Amino acid sequence: MGIDSKPTNYPNHIGMIMDGNGRWAKERGLSRNKGHRQGVEACQRVVKACQELDVHYLTLYAFSAENWKRPESEVNALMELLEYFLAKELKTLVEKKIRLRAIGRLDGLPAHLNRAVVEAIDATKEFNEWNLTLALNYSSRNEIVDAAKSISNAVAEGRLSVGDIDWDTFAEGMYTHDLPDPDLIIRTSGENRLSNFLMMQSAYAELVFTDTYWPDFTKAHLEECIKTYCARERRYGLTGEQVSKKKLVSK
Ligand code: IPE
Ligand code: IPE
Ligand code: MG
Repeated sequence: MGIDSKPTNYPNHIGMIMDGNGRWAKERGLSRNKGHRQGVEACQRVVKACQELDVHYLTLYAFSAENWKRPESEVNALMELLEYFLAKELKTLVEKKIRLRAIGRLDGLPAHLNRAVVEAIDATKEFNEWNLTLALNYSSRNEIVDAAKSISNAVAEGRLSVGDIDWDTFAEGMYTHDLPDPDLIIRTSGENRLSNFLMMQSAYAELVFTDTYWPDFTKAHLEECIKTYCARERRYGLTGEQVSKKKLVSK
């Protein structure tokens, strides 16, 4: 489709569960690592497409805390590819004024990858209109645990009282504290699950699942997903009638 005029319910933040690299490769008689290499090209395509389609926040699930359990050779290849992606993409990010962030337990990454991430974050920190976030060594459950620890410390040190704890307190302690909640979560490869990705932040996100394997995912697929999103009604607990009334009032 052509997204010519932007509807009011257009996604501001898209979260992407990039899945299917291994199966893409297997179907072609290639190694899983070759699938991951093709996956990097899809990442580059989608970062570019988001800017072209006026999507201001993109979060890519690049490596989960559970992915360490994969064979060592695959984990090593993924770490190398992430470094390659950062090295290659940094020039584009600076040129296109895209700010990079990373969420997850970054101190668990290999030192050289951690350094590359920190450098890229630093090189783009002045930008604010376009935003790319990489979820690395990420787990929603770890994130909640880390937020709970920082809240507990604040209580123990007398900076916060238990009665004042609410969702905003938690949101402040999440890795995503300076990001808006995702509006749309897309998962490729035909799997219909979240696999520990932005679980709390996605409380009211729309989920779109597509059968396309991640290495085959193009701007046209992204446009289709956005179109599906735009046709949905987000009700946040209200009735459909209340939502329609609100829309009329805000016109
Ligand atoms: C997604 O593709 C990449 C990562 C999880 C890092 P997979 O490697 O999970 O591909 P499948 O699911 O085995 O096809
Ligand atoms: C989720 O994909 C993690 C990433 C996309 C980085 P997985 O392929 O690891 O998820 P499961 O194991 O199929 O749930
Ligand atoms: Mg997978």
